[in-house]
Amino acid sequence: MTVSEKFDGSAQMQSCIRIRFCEETDLARIFNFYSEYQHEHVDLRAEDLLRSSVTTRRVFLAEQPDDVIAMASSSYDYNDPRAETENKSWVEIGSTRAPVPGLGLYPFTIAAQVVHEFFTRPPEEFFFASIYNNNEAVAAMLSGKVGWEFFEPEETLIDVSGERENMSKLIWLRANTTTLPHQARLVLETIERFELAGITSKKTGDNFAVDLSDFPLANDLRPMLQELAHGGFGRLAENNAPTNMRVLREMLDKAMVSGLPAPQHKI
Ligand SMILES: CC(C)(COP(=O)(O)OP(=O)(O)OC[C@H]1O[C@@H](n2cnc3c(N)ncnc32)[C@H](O)[C@@H]1OP(=O)(O)O)[C@@H](O)C(=O)NCCC(=O)NCCS
Repeated sequence: MTVSEKFDGSAQMQSCIRIRFCEETDLARIFNFYSEYQHEHVDLRAEDLLRSSVTTRRVFLAEQPDDVIAMASSSYDYNDPRAETENKSWVEIGSTRAPVPGLGLYPFTIAAQVVHEFFTRPPEEFFFASIYNNNEAVAAMLSGKVGWEFFEPEETLIDVSGERENMSKLIWLRANTTTLPHQARLVLETIERFELAGITSKKTGDNFAVDLSDFPLANDLRPMLQELAHGGFGRLAENNAPTNMRVLREMLDKAMVSGLPAPQHKI
């Protein structure tokens, strides 16, 4: 018997979940996904808003074989009309939907979006989510696992996010600069777990390999992720009061090039 006769690779091939940020070519699939898997806790966004998230490659995707989307989550910019610069002031993480239950992807997804946005297009102020107040599981995961804090939004944010009518049904959480290192650790540890053991569904027990080959946080942005998670820069962000995200992001570039600021350094 030859080696090829003895080993039937196809019989042993493990299903795979591919994690990445979207391409423009995913537009139709993403629109179809949100229209097919509508949920009372996920508002359908204006077409233009979602389209701009896709064209700027800001939709997180976890996909099963045959292009089945197991999870999608997006981010949206909001400008403060009072601000003197045109930089966005706040970023909302929303449209988070996982129709395949049991994969436990929520904390990783949110933290990965936040860290990736911080690295590539940081807002001035903070990340936020407004959640229906009967969605207790998600509020508990966001505060307990991802490390976000509950807060009362100021009037301007309520207006620019278009949520004034819904205020009585919503709770708000946010992530500022002090929470970034915790989220970076969550992302890094999850990536390491994915690489070692894949994902096992809590619902079915099925195990999936995870394809991270197109996921920047596992590849070219990994050194920065490690610095934010465990380095002197991360300790600096964690141990100081919340500060301007864009300015902190500029400091990270300097830290990556010229060595790290001492942890006791004040921002
Ligand atoms: C929230 C959501 C994205 C989580 O995705 P996920 O982490 O891959 O999903 P899982 O099925 O593995 O659930 C994760 C946890 O949430 C809990 N959970 C999920 N949906 C729940 C619900 N409707 N009620 C109570 N608990 C729920 C699960 O029990 C699990 O808890 P555990 O980790 O302690 O076991 C997914 O459940 C979903 O699409 N929900 C509906 C839409 C929604 O609420 N989106 C968020 C809007 S802010």
